[in-house]
Amino acid sequence: MRLAVLGASGLVGRSMLSLLARQDWITGAPLALSSARSAGLELPFGDGPVTCRDVAAADLASIDVAIFSAGGAASRHWAPRFVQAGAAVVDNSSAWRQDPAVPLVVPEVNGHLVGPGHRGIIANPNCSTIQIALPCAALERAAGLREVHATTLQAVSGAGQGGHDELVAQANGLAGGEQAGAERGGEVFPRRIAANAIPEIGALDGSGFFEEELKVHRELRRILARGDLAVTCTATRVPVWNGHAAAVRAVLAQDVTLDEVVAALAAWPGLAVAPTSGEYRTPAEVSGDVSVHVGRVRHEPGRRDAVLFWVVADNLLKGAAWNAVQIAARLAGAEAR
Ligand SMILES: NC(=O)c1ccc[n+]([C@@H]2O[C@H](COP(=O)([O-])OP(=O)(O)OC[C@H]3O[C@@H](n4cnc5c(N)ncnc54)[C@H](OP(=O)(O)O)[C@@H]3O)[C@@H](O)[C@H]2O)c1
Repeated sequence: MRLAVLGASGLVGRSMLSLLARQDWITGAPLALSSARSAGLELPFGDGPVTCRDVAAADLASIDVAIFSAGGAASRHWAPRFVQAGAAVVDNSSAWRQDPAVPLVVPEVNGHLVGPGHRGIIANPNCSTIQIALPCAALERAAGLREVHATTLQAVSGAGQGGHDELVAQANGLAGGEQAGAERGGEVFPRRIAANAIPEIGALDGSGFFEEELKVHRELRRILARGDLAVTCTATRVPVWNGHAAAVRAVLAQDVTLDEVVAALAAWPGLAVAPTSGEYRTPAEVSGDVSVHVGRVRHEPGRRDAVLFWVVADNLLKGAAWNAVQIAARLAGAEAR
């Protein structure tokens, strides 16, 4: 299967190339594509580099599957052109996620929606939603879900290379004695992100929620095929380099014991579960790991139908590149590794 990566020079694209280098179901090196800005750039891929090319000059007819991580505008422009040329497109942006004709896929939850021979666009969900969807799917299967409430703590890498660079610059400034006001934002974040926490990701909606919070609401419902599910989210940006965390409260349709909850989570593919309520992983610990880690599992006091837990994952891997590579592998009738 011949692969292309659009957005190869970005944070997600580079993670994609590193994951693809160990897959045995792709033919040769993937075609690394970007805008004209990064054309000619050498990117690490296995034993040798691949050279980034301007997507506008690419031979689209030679591609079976293209994985996009180049933002919504590039996706809206290029995805129909790649599909027209005969490729399947796995897209990381939010451009197609609410299109009823486009499957929104987390392979461990609803992977049956795609398989070998699939053509057209397949959407990769929002990074926070993916890691929340895995434990929620396990709870839905074990006891039925009534409500999900999530508070996310999201790393700066979730905003791409620019987010990373803004934290570096501000942290260096503060360390050097600069008196930057916390209320002043930069080019990427709306307030100073260094030594701070910001409860605002994306544009404000008339309902009082920010865009990221609405993505979790809409996408979790779609992935679980539960349009009736009560889902709320408060999304925050924190000065963590990489790895998103979320504190989740789930209300279930029946009473459960903690042993039953831990067993259901531990049996779910893609999840790694801490066996006791006091154990957990942190974003920095799981950076570089493709699993979703659940810890701090406990009952809400006085209720056996409500559970609280902490979930962490690498947003560049399971939140983006790994989920997309898993989908591409399904299109090849193979298993990602
Ligand atoms: N970071 C995450 O955790 C995460 C998680 C899930 C989804 N995503 C999504 O993945 C996408 C990329 O994120 P990122 O973090 O990798 O961002 P990034 O580091 O800023 O990289 C952006 C990439 O997109 C390319 N690009 C931008 N505009 C383009 C255009 N008009 N035509 C062709 N290529 C273009 C850039 O190429 P140049 O180098 O040529 O500019 C670069 O390769 C976004 O849609 C984002 O929402 C990110």
